[in-house]
Amino acid sequence: MHRLRGGDAGALKAAADLLQRGELVAVPTETVYGLAAHARDEVAVRSIFTVKGRPLLDPLIVHFASLEQVSQVCEVSSASQLLADRFWPGPLTLVLPRKADCPIPDLVSAGKPTLAVRIPAHPLFRQLLQESQLPLAAPSANPFGYISPTRPEHVEDSLKTGVAAVLDGGPCEHGVESTIIEVTAEGRVRLLRPGPLSLESILALPGIEEAGAEPLDDTAPVAPGMLKSHYRPSKGILLFTGSPTNAAPGDAVVFLARPENPAAHQFWLSERGDEGEIAHNLFHLLRQLDGMAEIARVYVEMPESNAGVLKAVRDRLNRAATPPD
Ligand code: TXA
Ligand code: MG
Repeated sequence: MHRLRGGDAGALKAAADLLQRGELVAVPTETVYGLAAHARDEVAVRSIFTVKGRPLLDPLIVHFASLEQVSQVCEVSSASQLLADRFWPGPLTLVLPRKADCPIPDLVSAGKPTLAVRIPAHPLFRQLLQESQLPLAAPSANPFGYISPTRPEHVEDSLKTGVAAVLDGGPCEHGVESTIIEVTAEGRVRLLRPGPLSLESILALPGIEEAGAEPLDDTAPVAPGMLKSHYRPSKGILLFTGSPTNAAPGDAVVFLARPENPAAHQFWLSERGDEGEIAHNLFHLLRQLDGMAEIARVYVEMPESNAGVLKAVRDRLNRAATPPD
């Protein structure tokens, strides 16, 4: 896998050419790195599933440069338009009805009548979308079920074959995947995955109301980002609040804020418990600890608050701590 440095002249052109030719390119977004392919190229899209070891039942998010492009593939209702105007570009994915003549292959959305779409904010990724003029299908650039990548080296470390290049945009700002919202036919919203943008801030938008709990789309068998066990490192993750009373000497202990006198094997996600910093550092620290031979298990302090991005942090930690069935 080549590393294309974001600041280098020619890097964006090289990435756009590779995508145009049906190759896979890992791209920086403001949430996590994505594994991108030309969304209308079914062969390229299929290789995303192969490279990740991802089941074909699990639909992908398609990224666009503009709302105009989105409206060529999906039905954009007035509620969707409100959300798009307020929150795009940004860490929000909308699940919208596919248009009858939608040119995106069914494989991308796993045969569902809806498509997940996003206009990302990361400047490099936006330039790439503009330069290539392609819709880019991109799941997180990690092997299926493993922790999402938030730095280019995470992609290089865990995806060994089938990726032509990684576009280096440095560490991702938010560090957890986008908030996913389904917009129902009645124009109501339903949270499918918590992320950097909170449901409260979405519902604060005049004209936006929450739908009931039952997903409308009963063709939805799996949404693996929503599987109980996901984002799992290879070491056991154990969650605690207060103090980790059962931690053994070979275990790492991860606190939300820096402890006063940190002991060996004690780590922290932020200096003072700042929620944005906790999310930003979470996956990077979990990957680092996963790679440390002297550490047996990882105890992680669970945020007690569900506010803002901490809802997403709690969600990812719960899944990381759940053994597969
Ligand atoms: O921040 C992000 O969202 C990153 C960056 C690269 O954009 N992408 C990402 O993609 O996290 P992925 O594939 O790892 O997670 C997307 C989730 C999956 O759980 C998938 O099941 C769900 O979105 N999804 C995609 N299309 C859907 C649809 N039509 N209906 C319901 N869920 C859908
Ligand atoms: Mg993922």
